[in-house]
Amino acid sequence: MQPIERVDDLFAHQRAVRAFADRDVDEALVERVLAAATRAPSGSNTQPWRFVVVRDPGVKAQLGEAYEDALRETYGGRGGGAGAAGPERTPWTRVPVLIVACVQVPARTGQAGFQTGASIYPACQNLMLQARALGLGTVLTTMHRRRRERIHEILGIPAGYDTAAIIPLGWPTQPYGRSRRPPAASVTMRDRWDPARE
Ligand SMILES: Cc1cc2nc3c(=O)[nH]c(=O)nc-3n(C[C@H](O)[C@H](O)[C@H](O)COP(=O)(O)O)c2cc1C
Repeated sequence: MQPIERVDDLFAHQRAVRAFADRDVDEALVERVLAAATRAPSGSNTQPWRFVVVRDPGVKAQLGEAYEDALRETYGGRGGGAGAAGPERTPWTRVPVLIVACVQVPARTGQAGFQTGASIYPACQNLMLQARALGLGTVLTTMHRRRRERIHEILGIPAGYDTAAIIPLGWPTQPYGRSRRPPAASVTMRDRWDPARE
């Protein structure tokens, strides 16, 4: 994928990338995406995020095993089409970098429970948009949460933190083009809820 400079193009070309080339990602680029992530908004500016950057093949293998297990539980033999469980996925052992986005849970931050996800997913999106601007591919994955305990054990995540997403990062094997989404007007209402848009 080509790097992107125009912001409008960036949004239109962010895609879920699950197949990665056998090419490393420089640490400087990882730092760029993490810098973008940590500029995100969070409830009361608590910045409750921590990021575990996984390059160790052994750790990637264990995370991948737990993730595949969760996918099997969800999709069974159905394969999930071209999406999450589709055949074009690069196994996590061969993804250059896995970024595990962790967030402090409400008991620790004192924030209302509804803010937990709301205070980490903007950071994930910043990270993924910065990656896309650099020509890198990512996909937000949450399926590991079906194996939450195992994931926390593998990574040694302490009580008081949750793993919101695991984001594979690497160089895509193909150009993905624009995302397919209906126009914003089809999901936008003015002043009041419009039953025609349900
Ligand atoms: C909350 C959330 C959870 C997701 N979980 C997974 C996941 O576990 N595995 C995966 O491969 N993709 C996952 N995705 C990626 C979506 O499948 C993807 O963003 C969507 O299909 C749109 O793909 P596109 O941008 O290429 O059109 C997740 C996305 C979101 C927003």
